[in-house]
Amino acid sequence: MSQRTLVLLKPDAVRRGLVGEIIGRIERKAGWAITALELRSLDRATLERHYAEHVGKAFYEPLVEFMSSGPSVALVVEGERVVEGMRALAGPTDPIAAAPGSIRGDFGTIVRENLVHASDSPESAEREIKLFFPGLI
Ligand code: CMP
Repeated sequence: MSQRTLVLLKPDAVRRGLVGEIIGRIERKAGWAITALELRSLDRATLERHYAEHVGKAFYEPLVEFMSSGPSVALVVEGERVVEGMRALAGPTDPIAAAPGSIRGDFGTIVRENLVHASDSPESAEREIKLFFPGLI
């Protein structure tokens, strides 16, 4: 079933020069395509909407600080089972628990600075795509 998802390469991925590596892994998945891509600095208002479910949690303020510490790359990826597939490619939130071969498992150690975001459901994907790429249908 073809789907689409919103992916963010977080500021740590951009700072560490891992954009090409991560995009390469996405591009090599059979049948997936990147249909929108933008380098942008995320402001607090955008982050508050994006992370609405986390507002008020202990990690929320440091998360916003980190996510606004430098530019991110926002992408829309389309293809077969891409919501579930992109979460698998990223690995679990905690990079130490992430298997080698996943993006977080290969490159991460810190829970907050876990390199990538990928929408957790088709419904979240549509909401997040509207937020980051309001011009896309
Ligand atoms: P992600 O799952 O993409 O979206 C929520 C983010 O909040 C998560 O990645 C981490 O970057 C961050 N996060 C979640 N839980 C924690 C935590 N316990 N400590 C620090 N950061 C967290």
